[in-house]
Amino acid sequence: MTETEEPQTKETLLLRGYDLAADAAAINQAGRILRGGGIVAIPTETVYGLAGNALDPDATGKIYAAKGRPSDNPLIVHIDRLEEWPPLVRELPEEALLLARKFWPGPLTIILPKSGLVPDATSGGLDTVAVRMPWDPIARAVIRAAGMPLAAPSANRSGSPSPTTWRHCVDDLWGRVDAILQSHDCRVGVESTVLSLCREGGGAVRPRLLRPGAVTLEQLREVLGEVVVDRGVLEHLENGEKAHSPGMKYRHYAPAAEVVLVAGDREGFRGYIRDHERPGEYAICFEEDLPMVELPAFAYGKRGDHAAQAREIFRLLRELDRLGAKKIYVHAPEKDGVGLAVYNRLVRAAAFHIEQA
Ligand code: TXA
Ligand code: MG
Repeated sequence: MTETEEPQTKETLLLRGYDLAADAAAINQAGRILRGGGIVAIPTETVYGLAGNALDPDATGKIYAAKGRPSDNPLIVHIDRLEEWPPLVRELPEEALLLARKFWPGPLTIILPKSGLVPDATSGGLDTVAVRMPWDPIARAVIRAAGMPLAAPSANRSGSPSPTTWRHCVDDLWGRVDAILQSHDCRVGVESTVLSLCREGGGAVRPRLLRPGAVTLEQLREVLGEVVVDRGVLEHLENGEKAHSPGMKYRHYAPAAEVVLVAGDREGFRGYIRDHERPGEYAICFEEDLPMVELPAFAYGKRGDHAAQAREIFRLLRELDRLGAKKIYVHAPEKDGVGLAVYNRLVRAAAFHIEQA
């Protein structure tokens, strides 16, 4: 924010946990702001979201402006009840219903052809719409209080690590949004799994993973059989190559510091750091690495604890920025289960700079 801009954020609305009754006043206030066309940062189980009326192009326009987000990068629409889904889409294939039954409410976003109800401003000009029913009771209560589906991208400034606490939202968005819900830390820590169920070439539904998350590829395959992993999940798309998900094109999740992803075992990681370290550099590593790493280091969980890594990674990237880190070496996570989601975020934070130790 420049010094001449007046902050417009009027309040943080304090919440006390998952107690909807105790927090009714704050939730209702958020609902009023949203019904009036405003935008509010809200907790979800994955990351904090910046919510606005998904069916109102003026409200979603404010979301893009507050985040500094390119207008061709579509927003996820959040619903509270299954009945809110059919009006948003042109068809609901059986695969979609199977997944919703198994994983909703929860961290899974499903992309389908959109209906006329969804403005182009929300879908970034695409003819599809991404929908998810969050698990988070506060998020769902806010949707109910607003009385409408809510578009909500992650509540960070475009490009920076996603917010997993309300303080991160204040750091990024104070003065740019109408209110911030001062609520619990996010228990998942990385954004939802994004799966397209569109028909390719007008034929059969072809499930395609666009962003891995806490609903894992393995779980999706158990329900659907074949699921294609989009090339953009792990690889850098060439200039001019078409991205199935516009978000893949943009620099993402990146702290100010340079990030290097170092793959290999404990000895390899230690050796790589010993050969490369300079002042102002830090490591993010596994708990088991801590005694061996000769740099200021923060652990993001045990090597096999993908859930802990997901919960910690964005918070640590932000923390190291606060400490003024110039360069961060991250011991690369495993690529199975929720590890794939952590790896996908880190490879982007590192601008695809991966070293094999
Ligand atoms: O967990 C989450 O999904 C969080 C919380 C707040 O719900 N939201 C979130 O939204 O991560 P956002 O906007 O930061 O990420 C949405 C991603 C973007 O990469 C976007 O390009 C992709 O989903 N996406 C959305 N709609 C799409 C569509 N119709 N087709 C392809 N990709 C789409
Ligand atoms: Mg985001």
